Amino acid sequence: IFLQQWEAQVRPYIEMIDFMRRIGIEKELALPSIAVVGDQSSGKSSVLEALSGVALPRGSGIVTRCPLELKLRKSNNGSSWAATISYNEVRETFHDPAQVESYVRRAQNMLAGDGVGICEDLISLEIRSPDVCDLTLIDLPGITRVPVKGQPEDIGDQIRRLILKFVSKKETINLVVVPCNVDIATTEALRMAQGVDPDGLRTLAILTKPDLVDKGAEADILQVLQGKVVPLKKGYTIVRCRGQSDINENVSLAEATRQEKEFFAKNTHFSHLLEEQRATIPCLSTRLTKELVEHIKSSLPSLRDQIHIHLSAARFELKNYADGPPLEPERMGPYLSKHYLISVRESVKQMTEKYDEAHR
Ligand code: GDP
Ligand code: NA
Ligand code: MG
Repeated sequence: IFLQQWEAQVRPYIEMIDFMRRIGIEKELALPSIAVVGDQSSGKSSVLEALSGVALPRGSGIVTRCPLELKLRKSNNGSSWAATISYNEVRETFHDPAQVESYVRRAQNMLAGDGVGICEDLISLEIRSPDVCDLTLIDLPGITRVPVKGQPEDIGDQIRRLILKFVSKKETINLVVVPCNVDIATTEALRMAQGVDPDGLRTLAILTKPDLVDKGAEADILQVLQGKVVPLKKGYTIVRCRGQSDINENVSLAEATRQEKEFFAKNTHFSHLLEEQRATIPCLSTRLTKELVEHIKSSLPSLRDQIHIHLSAARFELKNYADGPPLEPERMGPYLSKHYLISVRESVKQMTEKYDEAHR
């Protein structure tokens, strides 16, 4: 029953937005989505890969160099895993999850060059699997301060500008990733999110690396989680992802989920967070889907208005061409046949009728 309700209440909204994206509406107006922001190495890609069940390029230094739109689509039980990557004119489908990393790296090298530069062009990766939640997330390059060898002096500003482009849209839910082992009050990502969303209506924070909290600092983390340090309307979720040693030891994502739960259950300071639904990746994933649907619902009136404005403008322009191109041979130009022009007129007429019908 839960699944049926889920299908009925979540799917239609997400599919509607996907449909709009597919027909290119995003060129004219922004659609609801979730953007992941944080300092370099705060754990953004780790959170994304835990949510998606797919290993992404990650590690130390700048790894995410282009915005990566990760579209997770739950497919029917029993259907096989498939992914489609699109950027520029490229569009490739593959069926082996182990290939994601190399496809994404290749795309980044194509768009942002082989070095350590960044690029604003979007890579889109759609993953269809029975094991994912319906979510669309955007991974962004991490905030850096000091350029590394080969990076332009202003790399920090470039990255900040790119992040701002995404987080300032009111259609975007900002997922701010903050590691437990830094001074949370001074985290730049959190400050940026507050700057563009002062009331905290569309900012969610995620605390990562709880296993790296200094002994004795657990109480401080609980204060943060309760919103006593940086208050956020939508609050905080704490998650534990695979560390570098887990990766070296080939700990699978499924095993990591089990270990995460065990970590919280066994931790005397944090175990109550499990019941309060404020810890673990599965809990985060459910919350995010819910938030996204709420966000889509509340964005619909404004989306409808904007679509109507664009539609009226298009219809007005179309009216100017209502009679179609001239048919007189001396005005037709050397390359166009009368037959072709008549077919153009016919399709203009059909388009006008379709617009009128849609607008009724
Ligand atoms: P990004 O630069 O923000 O995308 O960060 P990454 O996801 O690449 O993570 C940076 C490093 O932190 C990687 O070596 C991860 O394995 C490690 N890491 C991420 N989450 C955790 C965690 O919960 N615990 C520990 N110990 N390490 C983590
Ligand atoms: Na990184
Ligand atoms: Mg990353």
